[in-house]
Amino acid sequence: MPVTTRIEEIRNELTELARAVPTARELMHSMVKLLHERMLKYNWVGFYMLEAGANPPMLVLGAFEGAMTPHTRIPLNQGICGAAASSGQTVVVDDVSKDPRYLACSLETKSEIVVPVFVRGNVVGELDVDSHFSAAFTPEHQDLVQHCAMLVGKKLETVGS
Ligand code: SME
Repeated sequence: MPVTTRIEEIRNELTELARAVPTARELMHSMVKLLHERMLKYNWVGFYMLEAGANPPMLVLGAFEGAMTPHTRIPLNQGICGAAASSGQTVVVDDVSKDPRYLACSLETKSEIVVPVFVRGNVVGELDVDSHFSAAFTPEHQDLVQHCAMLVGKKLETVGS
C-alpha cells in the first residue's frame, strides 16, 4: 500500500477513536498504542504533559509505548521536548546525534518529532515520537502526528481530562 494511503487510513482510524472514547486520558493511551503498533518506524511514542501549577514549568511523562525512558520529568529549557513546549512549535530532528538539545532515551534513536498539544491556544503538553531510522518524519508523518496532537487538544477542550 502506498505510504500516503496507509497514513490516511491510520489518520481516519485515529479520528474515529477520538470520537469513540469518552476521555482524553483514554484517547492518549489508545493513541500511543495504535501509533506504536501500526507505524513501523515509530519506535517510542509518548505524551508529556505540563504539570499543573508547577514553578518552574515541568513536562511530566504520561501515556507512552516503547522502552522506559530515564526522562520522566523535563524542564522547559531542556531537550527537544522543552524546545517544542516552550516555543509552541513542532520540532523535527532528522539526526538526533547532531542536535545538542537532544536528551537520549534509547541509543537506537536516530530521529524525533515533538508536537505541542494546545487547549484554547495554550500549550498543555506534547506528543513525542522517536524512530530508530534517520529522517523518519517526512511532511506526511508531520501531518499525522500534528493531527494526533490536535485530536487530543480538542478532546481536552470538550471533555476535560
Ligand atoms: N528525546 C527527548 C527526551 C524524551 S525521550 O526521547 C522519550 C528530548 O530530547 O527532549
